Amino acid sequence: MTTPAHVAIIMDGNGRWAKARGLPRLAGHRAGVEALRQSVKTASRLGIEWLTVYAFSSENWSRPPSEVSDLLGLLKLFIRRDLAELHRSGVRVRVIGERDDLQPDIRLLLEEAESLTAGNGALNLVIAFNYGGRDEIVRAMRKIAADVEAGRTSSASITPQTVSEALDTNGIPDPDLVIRTSGEMRLSNFLLWQAAYSELIFLPCLWPDFTPEQFEEALRQFSVRERRFGGRNERDVVSSSA
Ligand code: IPE
Ligand code: IPE
Ligand code: MG
Repeated sequence: MTTPAHVAIIMDGNGRWAKARGLPRLAGHRAGVEALRQSVKTASRLGIEWLTVYAFSSENWSRPPSEVSDLLGLLKLFIRRDLAELHRSGVRVRVIGERDDLQPDIRLLLEEAESLTAGNGALNLVIAFNYGGRDEIVRAMRKIAADVEAGRTSSASITPQTVSEALDTNGIPDPDLVIRTSGEMRLSNFLLWQAAYSELIFLPCLWPDFTPEQFEEALRQFSVRERRFGGRNERDVVSSSA
C-alpha cells in the first residue's frame, strides 16, 4: 500500500457533533482536540511524514466572539498540555497562517512549540492557524513584489517555485491527500495553491467521531487512486502512442 507522505485534514463538524448531543459548541471543540490527539498518534504509527491540520481559518474570526475566544483558548491549552508529549514522541511542530495579528501570548506559544521541537525527525505536525489560502497567497505576492521593487529579482524570473517558496509552506511538500470530515465538499480556503494535485477524500463523519480505523480506511482509498498529474498512466503510454 502506498502511504501518502503528506496528509492534510480539514477537521470539520465539531459544532454539529455538540448540537446532536444537546451540548454547547465548546464541548464539540474539546472533543475535536481529542480526535486530533488520536490522529497525531495514528499518523506517527502509520509512518506518515507530514500531517497538516486546519485548526482555525482566517474566516473563522467572523464567528461570535465567545466561540472565537473558546477556540483560541483551546489552542493555547493544546500547546501547553501536549507540547511536552509531542516533543517526547519526536514530533516536529510547524505553524502556518498569519501570525502578526495574533495576541502576543499565542504568538509566543506557537514560537515555543516550533523552537522546542525544531530538531525532531519523526512526524512533522503542521498546524494551520489563522490560515487562509488566499491570505497566504497575497502575503507571498507582497514578498515577491517587494523583491522586484528592490531589484533583487525581476518579474520575468518568477516561476511556480518562486511562489511556492514565498508561501508559509516553504520547504513542506504538497499534500498528497486532503481529508475533510463532516460531509461538506469544499476546501474552505485550505491550501489552495498546494492542493493543486492532491487527492481529496470527503467523509460523512463529524470530526470528533473520526477514528484511527477511519484514518486507515482513507489511506486505503488513497492507495488505489491513480494519480496522473496531467500526464498519462504507464499502461496507456506502453499500449498506444496515439
Ligand atoms: C470545525 O468545526 C472547527 C473549526 C472550524 C474551528 P465547526 O465549528 O466548523 O463545526 P460545524 O461545521 O459548525 O459543525
Ligand atoms: C473550515 O471549516 C475551517 C476549519 C476546519 C478550521 P469551516 O466550518 O470554517 O468551513 P465552512 O464555513 O463550512 O466552509
Ligand atoms: Mg464547520
